[in-house]
Amino acid sequence: MKRLLVLAAAATALFANAQTYPGSKPVSIVVPFAAGGPTDRVARDLAEAMRKNMPGSNFVVENVNGAGGTIAATKVAKATPDGHTLLLHHIGMASAPALYRKLQYKPLEDFEYLGMINEVPMTLIGKPQLPANTYRDFENYIKANAGKLNIAHAGLGSASHLCGLMWQAAINAKEAMTTIPFGGTGPAMNALVGGQVDLMCDQTTNTTGQIEAGRVKAFAVTTAKPLSNHKLLKDYPSLQDMGLKGFNLTIWHGLYAPKGTPPAIQAQLNTALKLALKDPDFIKKQEGLGAIVITDNRVEPAAHKAFVASEIAKLKPVIEAAGKFAD
Ligand code: MLT
Repeated sequence: MKRLLVLAAAATALFANAQTYPGSKPVSIVVPFAAGGPTDRVARDLAEAMRKNMPGSNFVVENVNGAGGTIAATKVAKATPDGHTLLLHHIGMASAPALYRKLQYKPLEDFEYLGMINEVPMTLIGKPQLPANTYRDFENYIKANAGKLNIAHAGLGSASHLCGLMWQAAINAKEAMTTIPFGGTGPAMNALVGGQVDLMCDQTTNTTGQIEAGRVKAFAVTTAKPLSNHKLLKDYPSLQDMGLKGFNLTIWHGLYAPKGTPPAIQAQLNTALKLALKDPDFIKKQEGLGAIVITDNRVEPAAHKAFVASEIAKLKPVIEAAGKFAD
């Protein structure tokens, strides 16, 4: 019955809106983390590029943080499917099912997939006062100070949480650190720069500028190989090269609408997304921060959805091996 109601609502919306979308009402891109973080950065850059490529549109970014991004995902899953509420989310779309027993939404069933945006490497960074300058020193310091250090992240299921979990398991230091959650790695970065927390694993879109300015220390990247194409990040080893066998983590971002959004509106949004991903200004901004804009078929909704399904399957055993978590 519910499905029938959703379909009827979609049909009505399709007829009513096919010619008038987006109209004068803003299109809200909901970001599951606080302003000033990497997800927020991707959303603001994308909103600007999509505004340029969808005449008359007004894409606005709405930050809804908390619970590792699941509060925002729940909000969008339950939003009216009229094309005016979208979700820009990252790997948390795939990690949440393994971390939350009572998730209020089904990632693969409660959303329309509008296409992937980018892939982003992560960096292991420390506060400026940390007495370590190489990855080896850093790992030895962590182990020598078991129980005395704290690692920041953006909530259970966030990319920074997932990275920290996997790294601590890989160096067998799960009990070594206290985890300190924030509404996003924007505020977490402020605490790290200020020395209130000791370390963090965060996306290059948020760390590159801080590393370059000497406000944090960088020790390694999480991709299988060093980022040899990036003028700054090329100087840091990969964790795999530091002996963490098979360690390879890249974060990705995608765009979603509530299930039942009219197909004509989904198609308009996917077209605007594809044009935005080809926008030289958007590409320059993203690549300057170490991100890779998607150019393969994952910008197509079906391939985007298949990729997320494969990531859910891939992350489940990884998260379970690294450490079980209650809701
Ligand atoms: C994360 O750790 O999930 C993100 O970096 C959070 C954010 O974008 O602030």
